[in-house]
Amino acid sequence: MARRSSPKLARHRGVWDRGIFCAPLFLVIAPALLAQQTYNEPWRPQFHFTPPKNFMNDPNGLVYYQGEYHLFYQYNPQGTEWGHMSWGHAISTDMLHWKNLPVAIPEVPGQYMIYSGSAIVDWHNASGLCAGDRAADPSCLIAIYTAAGTDSQKQHLAFSNNRGRTWTNYEGNPIADLKQPDFRDPKVFWDEARKKWVMVAVLADERKAVFFDSQDLKTWVLRGSFEAAAQEKGQWECPDLFELAVDGNPKNKKWVLVVNRNPGAPAGGTGTRYFVGSFDGTHFVDETPAGRELWADYGKDFYATNSFSDLPPQDGRRIWMGWISNWQYANREPTAAWRGAQSLPRELSLRQFPDGIALVQKPIAETIRLRERELLELSGVSVLMASEAVRMASLRGETLEIEAQLAPGDAKEIGFRLRKGGAEETVLGISSTTREVFVDRTRSGQVAFAPEFSGRHKAVLRQSSLVKLHVFLDRSSLEVFVNDGQVVLTERIYPSPGSDGIELYSDAGKGKVLSLTVWKLGSVWR
Ligand code: FRU
Repeated sequence: MARRSSPKLARHRGVWDRGIFCAPLFLVIAPALLAQQTYNEPWRPQFHFTPPKNFMNDPNGLVYYQGEYHLFYQYNPQGTEWGHMSWGHAISTDMLHWKNLPVAIPEVPGQYMIYSGSAIVDWHNASGLCAGDRAADPSCLIAIYTAAGTDSQKQHLAFSNNRGRTWTNYEGNPIADLKQPDFRDPKVFWDEARKKWVMVAVLADERKAVFFDSQDLKTWVLRGSFEAAAQEKGQWECPDLFELAVDGNPKNKKWVLVVNRNPGAPAGGTGTRYFVGSFDGTHFVDETPAGRELWADYGKDFYATNSFSDLPPQDGRRIWMGWISNWQYANREPTAAWRGAQSLPRELSLRQFPDGIALVQKPIAETIRLRERELLELSGVSVLMASEAVRMASLRGETLEIEAQLAPGDAKEIGFRLRKGGAEETVLGISSTTREVFVDRTRSGQVAFAPEFSGRHKAVLRQSSLVKLHVFLDRSSLEVFVNDGQVVLTERIYPSPGSDGIELYSDAGKGKVLSLTVWKLGSVWR
């Protein structure tokens, strides 16, 4: 198998080369310390998950079990840059209010780090590793992750018989080994049609997804693979594979194969790409119309997605989270005590559009609980004059939800200037001339910490005559769902404290605001 050298692999190897692995480990975060966390530092997101301290990247092992949602995540327990990767852990009863728990699966110093992976409920003890009361409930939690050594990446299994509180590595590890240094990020799911477990992982440098199956979660057989087109560049990481109804029609289901690509995303650097097609238990066939590349997010900060396993059947949703950063600058973001944040959980569905089937995303319905109070409601048409910027004096804030319907009319551009203060602003606009939605963070506050950070990131809309925006603004991030989630843009921003104004603007013509509602959102940490 041809191998390419890659900057990413160099990053993965570098830690070993620098010998950081020999450093002492302090893996348990004392509960007392956790309790002291205020989650109120400047830029500390108020309704997005961030670790109490230190570095976090990908969400891992998202699973629902016995009334709790689990969020595991790539975590360095020892510092604010990538290294010593272990699985951090938090639980929640609504995917929004999280309780931090100690590190779930620590690195094995000198041997391997714990890279990304997934978790599932072994409902019927197929693994034989569940030790609970068999009659009452034979189930347990299983995590399957990449054990990343200097020159090898293999898949390992760990199990927990106490609702994820402690984990034991399976003594028969590895459970999958292709003798490759870039074989990683296993996502496991139960394939109901074929009555078997399926694992999708990647050979990152070859941009290849590989499919395994198993009856007992411990013995896995390689069955098939799916490769990128010849022109695809970069690495594939963190794959996912799930079936969704198109337009809610259970008789028309398609499979979505997700691969996170590093680099090569529309906004530069890392981003989430997907294919829509069919999967027969061993092979995926891409049915995306020729010439189309499907991307989940057009902002610069959405990567390494992971979807929840085992949501109750009566729930029926497919929900994922992504890490809101970009490998171009993840180690340099200007927060001090902690680094890295997760996106809001988003519900996924497939829609048929004239140009093909595509994912749409919306924030989970539970986000309504974040609303503290309504600050403004405006309905009916309000006209913005040419080159007018209306400062909404009553409106300011660092944590807001905005729903708006804007019509550019004969204006060249219409939109919002968010986190406005002095020369600082983050512009969210619709350009009617280019039929684009964009976020411009060039003057958003601190941008100089990495040359790749500053910029204007955009997506083309199917139509721009009437545009619906649904915006979640946190202390240092912006998630914009456009036209009911057809397009999403996710961005980190680092404004100065006090830059918290909002302006509506219309450029070179009269734009219309058909409706506008703004809520102040509360903190999930208090
Ligand atoms: C994606 C990734 C994964 C890997 C993990 C290591 O961001 O590179 O491929 O498992 O991060 O932290």
